[in-house]
Amino acid sequence: MNSGSIPSSPSATQPAAASHTGAPADWTPSSWRNRPSVQQPHYPDSAALARTLGELSHLPPLVTSYEIEGLKTAFAEASRGERFILWGGDCAENFADCTSAAIAARLKILLQMSLVLVHGTRKRIVRIGRFAGQYAKPRSAMTETRDGVELPSFRGDNVNRPDFTAAARTPDPTLLLRGYERSALTLNFIRALVDGGFADLHHPENWDLDFVKHSPLAAEYQRMVDSIGESLRFMESLAGGAILAMQRVDFYTSHELLLLEYESALTRQVPRREGWFNLSTHLPWVGLRTSDPDGAHIEFCRGIANPIGVKVGPDTHAESLLRTIRALNASNEPGRVLLVTRFGAHQIGPGLPRLVRAVKEAGLAVVWVCDPMHGNTETVVPSSGAWAGKSVKTRKFAHVLAEVEQAFEIHRNECTVLAGVHIELTGEDVTECTGGARGLTDDDLSRAYRSSVDPRLNYEQALELAMLISRRHGSGASR
Ligand code: PEP
Ligand code: CO
Repeated sequence: MNSGSIPSSPSATQPAAASHTGAPADWTPSSWRNRPSVQQPHYPDSAALARTLGELSHLPPLVTSYEIEGLKTAFAEASRGERFILWGGDCAENFADCTSAAIAARLKILLQMSLVLVHGTRKRIVRIGRFAGQYAKPRSAMTETRDGVELPSFRGDNVNRPDFTAAARTPDPTLLLRGYERSALTLNFIRALVDGGFADLHHPENWDLDFVKHSPLAAEYQRMVDSIGESLRFMESLAGGAILAMQRVDFYTSHELLLLEYESALTRQVPRREGWFNLSTHLPWVGLRTSDPDGAHIEFCRGIANPIGVKVGPDTHAESLLRTIRALNASNEPGRVLLVTRFGAHQIGPGLPRLVRAVKEAGLAVVWVCDPMHGNTETVVPSSGAWAGKSVKTRKFAHVLAEVEQAFEIHRNECTVLAGVHIELTGEDVTECTGGARGLTDDDLSRAYRSSVDPRLNYEQALELAMLISRRHGSGASR
């Protein structure tokens, strides 16, 4: 999202058209309506929904087709091991967290992690936030029952409200407009920060989070910053001037492609380009619960030109995965399909190699990414502290790390490339996952647990994960 590089006239400096931007002949932005669609809210007021969708379909896009094409090219490079993908953010964004402090903190942690990864891997990093639109969540049950009262489940700020009342839980289509606006506000601020030099590699001090100096990792991080600063100064003295490319970085957005009405309203054709682009985000992904190759979500994604993430887990069958990949990528375009594997530390060993082999034997071009979060969620019951005796959802840092380590190992053995990681994290000092350098225990969870959905790595745990990946899988490590 290097908005400074966007030409005022898109024809001027666009990358060459990708090989597959034309939609299949039997696809339309509404062909998904003929397929079974799961996880969709039921809007009782269909006239209000139609009004909102009409309005959304006339509002300007949030991202551009040439940013999307640039990202796809970067993914193709990552699939060849030339770049590394850092994809992270909250499980779900809230409308209330659309504040300058929260947005800057998210950007800072991703920048710090990417600096650590550049240092260790010596590869360019593709930075993608789970932000500017991550407002809808899949749920395992359509309804929730409390004290004999049954109401629709809360599905995220784009759909309904969390209070347990009939009014709050009734899906409200105007929230789609509020979500679109919050996404635009978030993007606007990120683009302005990036354009204004916030991400300048010459000034990593801009990215310090308040508590960085108290972190046990602070010294190691500072050494990396200093070493990168020295290399930059050395290169610039050789080049005889500032290396401008170091003054800015690209940031891309992503969210789970869940609400098909919303996504279709923002799917457009653009001048001088073939096909259809989903302009609500750069990188939509299809969650585990909606990844049926015959379902509406895959049908919708089949015809859009964006790169598409597909979650893959222990119950994914090789045959159905191959059908999904072929449906999404009939022309086998590199960089088009990202397989985001989320097995859990105990299941990746038996589960991932068979899928890697099946995809490899079928000759399908995919980008392998490891999500070490969603297969490692567990419930614990703290024995002391404010939450003693209560069930809490958490993840152990050691399991997260173990899954990433095994993913590297499996891809190395299969001669495939692990192109990146997909992490749930926050730039804040929360206590939602246990372990890490500070050794958070189950009893610490009650101190600063803020997620209403999945537990996120806090700032230090996220930075530590980046350091460990860098140390063990950097260019100096045995491969
Ligand atoms: C998520 O990424 O927040 C999510 C719900 O993941 P999955 O579909 O893999 O369970
Ligand atoms: Co999640």
